[in-house]
Amino acid sequence: MTGINIRQLSPVGKSAAGMLPQPQHAKNQQHRHNSQLVSHTLTTDAPSEPCSTTPKAAPASQWNDPTLDLITPGLVDSYNRTACDLRLSVTDRCNLRCEYCLPEEHTNWIHRDNVLTLPDYARLIRIALRLGVTDVRITGGEPLLRRDLEAIISTVHDAFIERTMTPRIAMTTNAIGLDKRLDGLINAGLERINISLDSLDPARYAALAKRDRLASVMRTLAAIRDSQLWPVKLNTVIIDETSLKEIPQLITFALVNGFQWRAIEYMPIGPLARTAQWRPTSADIMSTIHQHFDIEPVATRASAPAQRWKVRESSDHPGGIIGVISSMTTPFCSSCDRTRVSADGKVYSCLFSLAFTDLKSALRSGASDLEIAELWKGAMFNKPAGHKILAPLPLSATMSHIGG
Ligand code: 5AD
Ligand code: SF4
Repeated sequence: MTGINIRQLSPVGKSAAGMLPQPQHAKNQQHRHNSQLVSHTLTTDAPSEPCSTTPKAAPASQWNDPTLDLITPGLVDSYNRTACDLRLSVTDRCNLRCEYCLPEEHTNWIHRDNVLTLPDYARLIRIALRLGVTDVRITGGEPLLRRDLEAIISTVHDAFIERTMTPRIAMTTNAIGLDKRLDGLINAGLERINISLDSLDPARYAALAKRDRLASVMRTLAAIRDSQLWPVKLNTVIIDETSLKEIPQLITFALVNGFQWRAIEYMPIGPLARTAQWRPTSADIMSTIHQHFDIEPVATRASAPAQRWKVRESSDHPGGIIGVISSMTTPFCSSCDRTRVSADGKVYSCLFSLAFTDLKSALRSGASDLEIAELWKGAMFNKPAGHKILAPLPLSATMSHIGG
């Protein structure tokens, strides 16, 4: 490992040993959220409004294409849920091979001709906003592998502005090399970020991700503390006893550095789905948290995947927010407000669903915006009630393909 002092990665101990070094360039900068980041003031991100009511249509005068007058907003399904949270995947490729996500031997990549282009995204996002989407999360694979990621985010941002909507653009990333692109992405309109971080131990990280890249993630985390991205959430998939044991260290590290931390219950998608090994549940995760931290629940909107807690300050760490996503033991399907588009332009109404609707073929074969909007609505109308009733996914299915 190069470039970082291992002791700085270890959050255990009273000397704030887990505090990341502050990047030189950031030391003199005044940022919007600087006080929150540096003083670790206890803050919660305001829960976003659920889109439980059908969003209002924009005045017809805002629309250039008269056929768009016919698009009625509301990606409503047969159980009366409305999707307003778009997960937009920009690639199925990744520079890691997290053992619960992408097998080394994976070859079933989306052909490059089928990957959505910047003009495809420009058109799709405008249709999505007319359909009532209010939040966009850029996912992958690893979004940073797209060289035109800044342009894609900028296009999404412009589409919000055109509709006089407040841009709400987030990204899920492994953060490798992100430090060098932070300014460009923030200037393009990126606001919030979730970073996958399964271990603070370089050897364990490398064993899980099959690549020795923790040093790069740490460089990003140091740079990000002084950026305008807020809140920054660190996501850990809890796959076994070792993950459970590392929870106190990960939480302390997050709190000391002013990040939020979230445990994700392992989901049986991807390579580990073929093993019958025991996996920790959110009850196991909570019991570990209770043993080490003084916590109280935080009110959370119904469609939020994570149940959240406020951690009280102690001599080892400041206070802060943590969350647990119980996708398997307490699925939030009944209030799910997501619609997913894969990097090859397929709408999936559910992460666990095999059914999809191909928007890319329609986009590239001269379909009108109205026709594409109707396809999207049809795809969402058939959203299943919940993933527990669905048949198991084939072993070849991965989160990186559908967009996590
Ligand atoms: N179970 C739970 N989370 C997963 N992710 C990928 N595969 C799985 C799985 N099988 C999540 C990782 C990462 C995001 C991109 O997808 O947490 O943060
Ligand atoms: Fe890549 Fe994220 Fe999958 Fe890990 S979890 S292999 S970082 S897409």
